[in-house]
Amino acid sequence: MTQSEMTRLQALRASAMQERDPTAADDVLAVLLAEAERVRAARILEVGTGRGLTSLALALSTGASVTTVERDDGRIAAARENFAAFGIQDRIRLLEGDASEILPLLEGPYDLIFLDAAKVQYRRFLPDCRRLLRAGGVLLSDDVLFFRDGVPHKRRMLAQHIREYLEALQADPLFRTEILSVGKGLAVSVRQEEHT
Ligand SMILES: C[S@@+](CC[C@H](N)C(=O)[O-])C[C@H]1O[C@@H](n2cnc3c(N)ncnc32)[C@H](O)[C@@H]1O
Repeated sequence: MTQSEMTRLQALRASAMQERDPTAADDVLAVLLAEAERVRAARILEVGTGRGLTSLALALSTGASVTTVERDDGRIAAARENFAAFGIQDRIRLLEGDASEILPLLEGPYDLIFLDAAKVQYRRFLPDCRRLLRAGGVLLSDDVLFFRDGVPHKRRMLAQHIREYLEALQADPLFRTEILSVGKGLAVSVRQEEHT
């Protein structure tokens, strides 16, 4: 990524944060980029594009091709505008619609999958993530410690969904999972070689 691209991307990230439009925290993004480099990612899948800022960071830093899924029309338009502004739309494929309908249609293998969508659906996405990730690849699930400081009464169901997702992930012999205390918690799950 050139210095000018980095400066422009930082400005877009700053304005998203200021407008409270969710984008990955700096320390989450740093892990994401380091993992992409570690696994020498050539194909990346992101679930939850937002304005496209993590897709842009990944595509610009690694040279990988990125497939990203988003269902919100306003964010789809913003992401497309951002990709075009960086002249990188040929390396980022934005699939429009609900990931629960799109993921089953995708073909792997991907080297890295970033799960950053509705947390209530993570559990539902897991079988497709298992299927789509190559051996040695990495699944990163954001916001898994969202309620580490306590669960408001109204969010009990969501908290339970996240807990169930984490339990499934940690019990899954296909993955070796570590939970990092960056952002609101990031699960880093490396797909093992020997299981199917
Ligand atoms: C946290 S934002 C993504 C931010 C982006 N990854 C970044 O860090 O800049 C989550 C996005 O996921 C989208 N989303 C949530 N559930 C989804 C689903 N089931 N299918 C597709 N998109 C979804 C939301 O519309 C929202 O734009």
